[in-house]
Amino acid sequence: MKVLIVGSGGREHAIAWKVAQSPRAEEIYCAPGNAGIEEYAQCVDIGAMEFEKLADFAQEKGIDLTIIGMDDPLVGGIVDVFEDRGLRVFGPRKNAAILEGSKAFSKDLMKKYGIPTAAYENFDDPQKALAYLETARFPIVLKADGLALGKGVLICNTLQEAQEGVRSIMMDKKFGSAGNTMVIEEFMTGREVSVLSYVDGKTIKTMTSAQDHKRAQDGDQGLNTGGMGTFSPSPFYTKEVDEFCKSHIYQATVDAMAKEGREFKGIIFFGLMLTKDGPRVLEYNARFGDPEAQVVLPRMKNDILEVMEACVDGTLDQVDLQFEDNAAVCVVLASDGYPVSYEKGYVIRGLENFKDKDGYYVFHAGTKKTDKGIVTNGGRVLGVTAKGKDLKEARANAYEAVKLVEFDNKYYRHDIGKAIDEA
Ligand code: AMP
Ligand code: GLY
Repeated sequence: MKVLIVGSGGREHAIAWKVAQSPRAEEIYCAPGNAGIEEYAQCVDIGAMEFEKLADFAQEKGIDLTIIGMDDPLVGGIVDVFEDRGLRVFGPRKNAAILEGSKAFSKDLMKKYGIPTAAYENFDDPQKALAYLETARFPIVLKADGLALGKGVLICNTLQEAQEGVRSIMMDKKFGSAGNTMVIEEFMTGREVSVLSYVDGKTIKTMTSAQDHKRAQDGDQGLNTGGMGTFSPSPFYTKEVDEFCKSHIYQATVDAMAKEGREFKGIIFFGLMLTKDGPRVLEYNARFGDPEAQVVLPRMKNDILEVMEACVDGTLDQVDLQFEDNAAVCVVLASDGYPVSYEKGYVIRGLENFKDKDGYYVFHAGTKKTDKGIVTNGGRVLGVTAKGKDLKEARANAYEAVKLVEFDNKYYRHDIGKAIDEA
């Protein structure tokens, strides 16, 4: 098979690595890709939002399957463009990617179909939102409706903070048109778990659980980031939690989308909060998490192309999805100063240490090939993943592996997976 992967981050590197394991993969391309992905795929200089150019490329090369890694092209309708040209593509169409693309849509869907989530109201008029806040309880959560690079959620402790939040999102348009509509939601507490799943329109198969660390600094301090590290599985995702989610959340979401005429094929990422009243959906994403993919995919036993093709063909019920009975931890190596301001262009040393080192992986996020060698080229630079027989061993291995690679202004959290000590 000839495969094209669309995206350029650590998640797409993990997908490319996994695709390369498949005996069915003959040629792998990635657009636009990055310096690490080049090891497995031929990188093509076409942007992820250039749908027509990507489809032209897929047609010219005779690509058998295109895998969309990122949210923006999915929400923008890349799958529809490919399907209209008769090209096989893994991911939801635009009318289904709205599950991630509009938080107001996903909240209304959950309410209509009785899927457990926080109480909320949607607003498209800032004056009404401000009036609503006058009688609200705090803390309260404000969410820009659309995609906002993971920054569109504000947790507000006071009325004043919330009023400022409404003004900045809905009136000053801090996140552009993503803030035309806003969700105001009850604040919940509990542990967060990510559960990713493959979906073929009818059948859903969940993957092993994972947990992200979104804040920049140790102890969950500092600003929100794209994700500073992950571990998998989550020890808090117990059998009881799984059973509850299977009965009330997973299949219910797939069925709800089908009933709405929005058949979902691809990945559904369930962001869950385990509250004292049971699991609640925080958010849906329509793609792999980054850096969740970097711990989940190394533990997946199946041939990813077989599973993805089953999603496209509607035969996922025939797939026996299996994960290794071990654990993985990913520590993100960032540029000091991320997510605010940071320097780039530093040479990365030691990448070769990961070659043929079983159970250890270095996934590139923001890197670039130059005549000096591979240099840092982003806030999140690399994701270092290690497996172990259990979470403790995986964490120790990951922090050993972090020392194998060096660059100036290297920054990382020291407490990825620390929560497992409380399990
Ligand atoms: P989201 O993009 O919806 O996942 O929100 C980003 C983060 O905000 C989540 O991972 C949670 O940490 C937090 N969050 C979102 N919604 C709520 C809520 N209703 N109560 C408490 N925290 C929340
Ligand atoms: N790691 C969270 C996300 O990919 O949205």
